[in-house]
Amino acid sequence: MAKLFIPGPTDVNPDVLNAQAQPMAGHRSQDFQDLYARIQPRLQQVLQTESRVYVTASSGSGMWEGAMRSLIRERLLLCVCGAFGQRWADMAEGNGLAFDQLDVEWGEPNLPEQVVAALAEKKYDTLAVVHNETSTGVENPVEKIVKAARETQPNLIVMIDAVSSAAGVRIPVDDWGLDVLVTSSQKCFALPPGLALAAVSDRALERAAQVSHRGWYFDLLLLEEYHQRNFTPATPAITLLYALDYQLDRILSEGAEARQARHEHMANLVQAWAKEHFELFAAEGYRSRTVTAIRNTRQIDIPALNRHLAQYDMTLANGYGPLKNKTFRIGHMGEIQPADVEELLAHIDEFLAS
Ligand SMILES: Cc1ncc(COP(=O)(O)O)c(C=O)c1O
Repeated sequence: MAKLFIPGPTDVNPDVLNAQAQPMAGHRSQDFQDLYARIQPRLQQVLQTESRVYVTASSGSGMWEGAMRSLIRERLLLCVCGAFGQRWADMAEGNGLAFDQLDVEWGEPNLPEQVVAALAEKKYDTLAVVHNETSTGVENPVEKIVKAARETQPNLIVMIDAVSSAAGVRIPVDDWGLDVLVTSSQKCFALPPGLALAAVSDRALERAAQVSHRGWYFDLLLLEEYHQRNFTPATPAITLLYALDYQLDRILSEGAEARQARHEHMANLVQAWAKEHFELFAAEGYRSRTVTAIRNTRQIDIPALNRHLAQYDMTLANGYGPLKNKTFRIGHMGEIQPADVEELLAHIDEFLAS
């Protein structure tokens, strides 16, 4: 029974939690190399890529920082449509990287024509887009953005934040020509927090080779050097890799299409309910399939709603940052099933009627 209707961390299946409770292996051992090698092809399958997938002991933000440091040689165009895009702007600033941010009003998506127009203004070599902006419940049209951007700038390196969508929503990394896709373990993968996962293209590594001062912990070239031998540069989060090893089989046995259809179905259930009682925050046509942000048009007391839901061991998320109490969010990702969503919505109905 799902309890966490927040957009991560998500509920973890008890068998996956138990899979962590195995004896420790040395991280320079054959056992570890076997584990790493076993994980890799299934990760590639889930992320729909033939490129390598690095796994670091960090949350997704760490890997994102490393990717930015490794890839930007000249200037980054950063699409911002909410709090996580803004975090990446703060991170670029903190790392002294040359960048411009392309802002839209929160609730709106970043659109291909705006990106193309911005790219024409300066010499950019890297483009970054948040696929699923968890703070606003917007899913950006990444495929169209990348296609339009590459028509004018074929050599652009493209990095995508798919932290709250990968493994729940279809993102064919290779078909869409994404150079870097970063995600985290605690969202649609339904693992405990603590791992960042990144699919990285050959082109991205070629770029990294031209960038100096890439840092160390998340330097893509160092990760690649160790990846070639089924190792990681620093001590990996071994117990989380045991859980990943186990969870990948569960994800693949559900099947990519079934998993995506389940997420889409849950999004439809929540959106239909929200339209009946409130309003949706994200613009039509760009609504997330893993998290729904609902405009609090009835000025309900969201902490009180969560106290009501706590009787059933359930919890949802308040709005993010400046959207707190103005919106609330229902996460529908990972292990959550449509029946769980229906039960949650029925309990919210009780609260609204009381
Ligand atoms: C879209 C998005 N990007 C980035 C992050 C940050 O990921 P992490 O907490 O794994 O560093 C989150 C976390 O909620 C997110 O939803």
